[in-house]
Amino acid sequence: MEVPLRPEMFDFHGVSMTNVITDNWDNVQNFKARPDDILISTYPKAGTTWISYIIDLLYFENMDPDRQTSIPLHERVPFLEICVPPLPSGTDLADKLPTTPRLIKTHLPVQFVPKSFWEQRCRVVYMARNAKDNVVSYFHFNRMNSALPEPGDWSTFLQDFMEGKRVYGSWYDHVNGWWEKKQTYSDFHYMFYEDLIEDYEKEIDRLCSFLGLSPSVEEKERVRASVTFDSMKQNKMTNYSTVPVMNQEVSPFMRKGPTACWATFVSQYLLSPVVLIKYTFSYTLSRLAAF
Ligand code: A3P
Repeated sequence: MEVPLRPEMFDFHGVSMTNVITDNWDNVQNFKARPDDILISTYPKAGTTWISYIIDLLYFENMDPDRQTSIPLHERVPFLEICVPPLPSGTDLADKLPTTPRLIKTHLPVQFVPKSFWEQRCRVVYMARNAKDNVVSYFHFNRMNSALPEPGDWSTFLQDFMEGKRVYGSWYDHVNGWWEKKQTYSDFHYMFYEDLIEDYEKEIDRLCSFLGLSPSVEEKERVRASVTFDSMKQNKMTNYSTVPVMNQEVSPFMRKGPTACWATFVSQYLLSPVVLIKYTFSYTLSRLAAF
């Protein structure tokens, strides 16, 4: 199968992008959201797969046992803006989804979200992850995924990331842009990866309350068992082992998860308090403000 190899980055309305994201732009912008759609949004590597799988199971775990073993998660929760021919585009997959509600994933900065999602008052779940673990994860993901540009070495990648010059642009603008949207758009649930690790049950209860779901204790337990890091790492439907552009021998998709270590970041930027304040302090304040 023909796959794009290491596409070039370019400036797209002020954000670093590649053609894999922009080639289907008109269809993405004209996408017809439905009122019961749920948009799952993240900066890449913030735990998109984890939260997508949780929501998928909360809605559809009881529906059809074959679905859980035969349809990879990225087909159940299409990636709205992706376009890698000959694979079906994200918009095509979303248009053909047989389930209700449709769960749709995006990494777009908030200003690029198709307007029908807002017009239809779709519910939005955004998950943020701290910049340090996020950038380490993104670096390894760029190494193993040939649909992304070459990462270069770690210090170059880190510098690019800090300057907002990796695909999807600035982490800071992304988490902040969506945070600001939350202030004016009520059908919005903003979550933090770290909170989900620290107090999974509380976060799931908050999520269910937002979604209007009341799973039984047994259902919640089953979901919990399925979405542990180890279960998802073993599960071919969630570990991306079926995706040809990802070389898991270079770096597994499910890499470290909850035990991720950002020591490299800190050692590199220990002498830059401004950077640490911007990327750590303000993030922690937002986490506190979410309560
Ligand atoms: P690491 O690279 O730090 O391991 P995304 O789905 O947005 O691409 O994010 C992938 C990151 O989320 C990876 O981080 C992955 O290990 C982590 N992740 C996926 N499932 C997880 C789970 N069940 N628990 C904790 N982290 C998970």
